Amino acid sequence: MHQALKRAQTFCDRFNLRLPILQAPMAGASSPSLSIAVANAGGLGACGCLLMQSKAIFEWASEVRAGTKGPFQLNLWIPDPKPERNADHEGQVRAFLAQWGPEVPPDAGNTGLPDFDAQCEAFLDVAPPIVSSVMGLYPPEFVTKLKRKGITWFANISTVTEARAAEAAGADVVVAQGMEAGGHRGCFDASRAEREMVGLFALVPAVVDAVRIPVVATGGIADARGVAAALTLGASAAQIGTGFLRCPEAKTHPTWANALAETLPEGTAVSRVFSGRAGRSIATDYVKAATAPDAPAPAPYPIQRGLTAAFRELGGKSNDVHRMQVWAGQSSAMARTDPAADIVASIWRGAHDLLS
Ligand SMILES: Cc1cc2nc3c(=O)[nH]c(=O)nc-3n(C[C@H](O)[C@H](O)[C@H](O)COP(=O)(O)O)c2cc1C
Repeated sequence: MHQALKRAQTFCDRFNLRLPILQAPMAGASSPSLSIAVANAGGLGACGCLLMQSKAIFEWASEVRAGTKGPFQLNLWIPDPKPERNADHEGQVRAFLAQWGPEVPPDAGNTGLPDFDAQCEAFLDVAPPIVSSVMGLYPPEFVTKLKRKGITWFANISTVTEARAAEAAGADVVVAQGMEAGGHRGCFDASRAEREMVGLFALVPAVVDAVRIPVVATGGIADARGVAAALTLGASAAQIGTGFLRCPEAKTHPTWANALAETLPEGTAVSRVFSGRAGRSIATDYVKAATAPDAPAPAPYPIQRGLTAAFRELGGKSNDVHRMQVWAGQSSAMARTDPAADIVASIWRGAHDLLS
């Protein structure tokens, strides 16, 4: 058997998978139906819980458990320190955004996020097989509680330095996110997100050489060639985000789903213009205007998320892709509209053939 297939098999045996394909946790885009479909197909389901209160986390998990006996991961962002407010600067951003949507009220930046500690408690109560982190590392006390409950910790990283830190903090697996990835970049230090953009082809082998724990590859993987390449580079499994967004089970807004099909790799861009944290989306007219030299710099995360909320809501209601937050990885045009189970099965069949 090919060495890459053996490594993938070991990973699957350890995590009760039939194939080494993971659905990426995607906050705001983690419908239970998608996880049920992926887990029933033999892969790993996932929920990005960033914006969910404990009750919603419990409900998500019980719906998924009612639909599949397969495994899933629950994911949280490690909170940043509270950002400093700057009313003058927020005023400039609000004036800019008013050209794209409704007037933005002065208090729009007062966005609250669910309480992180309560979310962590909910994770311990739900006790999924896997919990994952992004944007940093879980506090040691929480890691100890996870381990006591037999819950595995997958740490998302985007550099070799972060991978080493994750292993030292007790992570069981690292998920190496290449800069091709859709959605927010998982950098521990938000300020370095644009400077430390490492492509997956360089990141995976470097991380595999740097740590002893298994490595999952993510970012721009959406077909059999990508999965085979990731495993060849030393990954034990591949994680797919954007590639699932056009499946019926993902329930993605149709305007977003259709736009993914039309987007070339160079048609995406990393910017802070939606939330204040760097993330890769389709380079819409808004993204281009808001990143132009004459536009005000975005407010810090999560203030910018609050400032853009009304404009994004308008975009969704009016099916205007240029006013929506359309996250997309560089392989977004490879996303297919087939049921997720068919995608998982055909990608793995193709990757297996390539490696046999
Ligand atoms: C809509 C969307 C939301 C995301 N939300 C999260 C999240 O909440 N937590 C996280 O760790 N990663 C999140 N990501 C990043 C994914 O986990 C993964 O790194 C990325 O999707 C891989 O790249 P790909 O989209 O090209 O497959 C998100 C990605 C997308 C597209």
